[in-house]
Amino acid sequence: MQGLITFEGIEGSGKSTQIKLASDYLLQKKIPLFVTSEPSGTDIGRKIGGILFDPYHDYMCAETELFLFCAARAQHVREKIIPALNAGKVVLCDRFYDATYAYQGFGRGLSRDIIKTINDYSSLNLKPDLTLLFDLPAETGLKRAILRNNSLNTSDRFEKENIAFHNRVREGYLNICKSEPGRFRLIDATPDVDIIQKEVLAHIMDFINKRK
Ligand SMILES: Nc1ncnc2c1ncn2[C@@H]1O[C@H](COP(=O)(O)OP(=O)(O)OP(=O)(O)O)[C@@H](O)[C@H]1O
Ligand SMILES: [Mg+2]
Repeated sequence: MQGLITFEGIEGSGKSTQIKLASDYLLQKKIPLFVTSEPSGTDIGRKIGGILFDPYHDYMCAETELFLFCAARAQHVREKIIPALNAGKVVLCDRFYDATYAYQGFGRGLSRDIIKTINDYSSLNLKPDLTLLFDLPAETGLKRAILRNNSLNTSDRFEKENIAFHNRVREGYLNICKSEPGRFRLIDATPDVDIIQKEVLAHIMDFINKRK
């Protein structure tokens, strides 16, 4: 079994907070690790992300969005993720292909069959071995994300979507989670950071210990 662990969930659900805490812990334990994120895990992906998240691109059509995320993923998988897995590292990835089903499939309403074809092609059929889904009400996540973005003086196109969009994305994630119970761990993202952190580490260490 390889070691691709993905962190998924709606805006502000705590993915980046938890991936940082998990990586600090695993590095302390001297577990060979590669930590990355989508779509910005490569230089090319960061540039693509600049187009995707630009709040002035509110007229971007859903199909363009799909191809851009998958273009970033194609580069990321080939340039970074596969080499890290081949080197025996555990890879922690902040969002991966489930996000495409949740956002462009459930959120934007694009065909899931078409997404599957493009997603599988861009990710070389690479599947996460373990996916942590951080779940919370869309209003709570959005509030957190907007507060964070205001304090960083940034904003992004997805944060500006209406609550119905974010609810569809949340339901989409829960739907995928239910359909693949072996791979997913559903985490309540509403408690304090340290409570969630314990649960995250328990799932990751359980996975790593079984993998040995
Ligand atoms: N359990 C928590 N309780 C309260 N606030 C939290 C919690 N976890 C994270 N936060 C705060 O909420 C904000 C969003 O968290 P974070 O950036 O980790 O979310 P994210 O899932 O990575 O969001 P995005 O999808 O927008 O990248 C941050 O300001 C973070 O400090
Ligand atoms: Mg984040």
